Parts: sequence; structure tokens; C-alpha cells
Amino acid sequence: MATVEVVTKVWIAPGCIVCDACETTCPEVFEVQHDNETCVIRPAALDAEFTKPLTKTIKEAAEECPVDVIKFDTIKVEMSDEEAAKIAGGATATPAAAAADAGAESPKAEAADKAAKASPAKPAAPPKPKVVDPAIQALLAATTVRGGHPMINRAVSDLPEPVRQLSKMSPEELPPDGKFQRVLEKAKPKQEEPSRRDVLLGAGWTALALGFGVGPLLGFNRFMAPNVLEQEDPKVRCGSLAKYAAMPPGEINEDFKPVKPSGFWIIREEDRISALSIICTHLGCIPSWLPNDRKFKCPCHGSGFKPDGTNFEGPAPRPLERFRIYLDGDQVIVDRSRKFLAMGPNDTAVWNDPEASIAV
Ligand code: SF4
Ligand code: FES
Repeated sequence: MATVEVVTKVWIAPGCIVCDACETTCPEVFEVQHDNETCVIRPAALDAEFTKPLTKTIKEAAEECPVDVIKFDTIKVEMSDEEAAKIAGGATATPAAAAADAGAESPKAEAADKAAKASPAKPAAPPKPKVVDPAIQALLAATTVRGGHPMINRAVSDLPEPVRQLSKMSPEELPPDGKFQRVLEKAKPKQEEPSRRDVLLGAGWTALALGFGVGPLLGFNRFMAPNVLEQEDPKVRCGSLAKYAAMPPGEINEDFKPVKPSGFWIIREEDRISALSIICTHLGCIPSWLPNDRKFKCPCHGSGFKPDGTNFEGPAPRPLERFRIYLDGDQVIVDRSRKFLAMGPNDTAVWNDPEASIAV
């Protein structure tokens, strides 16, 4: 038997520079999202049983991260030498050596250590100098804006000062950054790219219209019309109250999670229903509802929220926000123009506002 240190939880602190190193080393756990300019933990890797056998590669990825934002928790567990060897990645020849490699404290590891001391190994040959083709290095540097080996090889002192400062701060101290804004922008419906044929047809019709003098007319019309900014309706009709009253207490309705620009869950509490915003109160990622664990889990930095939205683990400082909810006849309406913000897990009095829930 050996005592081996295993990773039970892994998360990314703010400050990722999207260099791809972690995904290259441990793709089972890390997913780099260039669109969102961050790296996230894959949902499967939120489970300790999943991360345990990957302990070695997770630690390697954390060491390789140039801004040191990969964090993990470990515990020591008793296991057979064979399992210890598996966790050590099979890179070592014997179970005792494997256990030692994984931080083992077994008698066999001690014996192996003594044996090694009794007959010291031959001094290792000096490493061969690495020949680097300067032309290839220059090509890589010129073609890589960021990411890949050129970024990994950069000295950390090379990083911009704001990034260095951010990487040193704990998640609680961090100011909200532009991430939230970017998430909102991503959530806006994209306009479809016009095809080449559409562009040519459009140009043709425009030329024709201008030729007949429609242009001046349109210009005059635009001049006379009021300036109106079109916005999405913040109110969403969610169906009859009877549908939600029939849900068992504790159940979550996810039908409105994809609604743009800000989705929500309808939750059934003991005697009421409420609408929870899907935006994580840490830095604005979108958590997932995990029915087996009965919690909302954020993939970005590991924050967890109870079924009523109360934060209980990870860096999120506040519960999930609630939207105004009310009845129009028997129809449930969620109004996203008004929010109820609880300031902490024990500061949720605002949820008692008559418009923060509907009694069932
Ligand atoms: S190695 Fe670090 S900086 Fe690079 S993508 Fe992964 S978490 Fe981000
Ligand atoms: S955004 Fe950081 S935990 Fe959700």
C-alpha cells in the first residue's frame, strides 16, 4: 500500500493569457476558449473521481502555466502500489518508484530510496546543447501573435504589468473586468453574413433605386423620422402558473436559459417560484445546473450555487441575481429590467420583495 497525493479539485484563477499550454498538456481537463479569451475546466473534470487519475498531468499543466493561474486542491489517499503507479502516469519503472514519484510515503519507497543511497548512480552525462535554428525561431515569433511555444518561452517578467498584478491577487480582491461585458456582447444575436450573391443583388437594386431618385426621398424621410433606439423587450411570457405550481419543490426549469440577451432559470421553492439570472456573480460566466449534485456549477473558476441561487463554494461573492416576476392573469411574466441583488448568502432579505417571487 502507498499513500499518494491526488488532485480532487482544479480551477482557473483570473488572469489567463490564453496561451494553450494547459490544453496541450492535459486536454481531458482544460479547454482554452479563444472566443471568450479564457481557459475553462471541462464539466467532467469538476468531479474528484475524474481528476484523481490525472493528478500528474494536472500538476504538470499548473507548473507550465506562465501566469500561474491554474489552482488545485489535493488530499492524500491510501491505495495499492499498482494504482499509485497508474496515477504516476506509468512513467516510472516500478510501483515503488511510481509511488515515490507521486509523493508516496510507502515502506517500499523508503527501501528504494535507501538502496539508491547505498549504490549511488553514475553521474549523469552533461545535457547536449539545444541547437535552435534562428530562422525558424524568427518565423514562429513573426507568425504567432500570442499562444503556442513562443508565448510559453517568454520570461514571466516579459508580461505586461497589469497581467502580473492580476495574477498575484486572490479572486476575492479582483475588480470585475471586461469579461462580463464580453459575455453580454457574445449573447447578442449575430447578424448573418450576407452571401456574395446577396451583396451583388443589393448593389444592383441600390444603383437602380438611386437612379430613379428614391435615394433623395429616403434621405428626406430619415431626416423627418424620430431617432428611436430599438431594444429587446425585457419581459418574457413564461406560460401559465399552473405549470410551475405542479413542479416539485427544488425543481429547476431550464426552458429560458437560452433567451437573449439574458437568460434565466425558473426555480420552484417550497411555497413560491422565482427567476434566477444565469450569469455567475464572480466574473460573468454561465454556470450549469448539475441535477445529480443539486447545484449550479460555474465552469470558469468553480463557484457553486445551491438550488435557490445561494453561493456556497468558489470565489463568487454573492448569490445569483433574481429578476422581477409577476402574474398577468394566469400567465407568469419575467421582467429582466428589474433585478433583486442579495449581497451575500446570509443577506437575502431582498428576496422577500413581493415582486421577487410568486406564491404557489
Ligand atoms: S496555461 Fe495558464 S495562461 Fe495558458 S491557457 Fe492555460 S490557464 Fe491560461
Ligand atoms: S465566473 Fe468565476 S466562478 Fe463563475
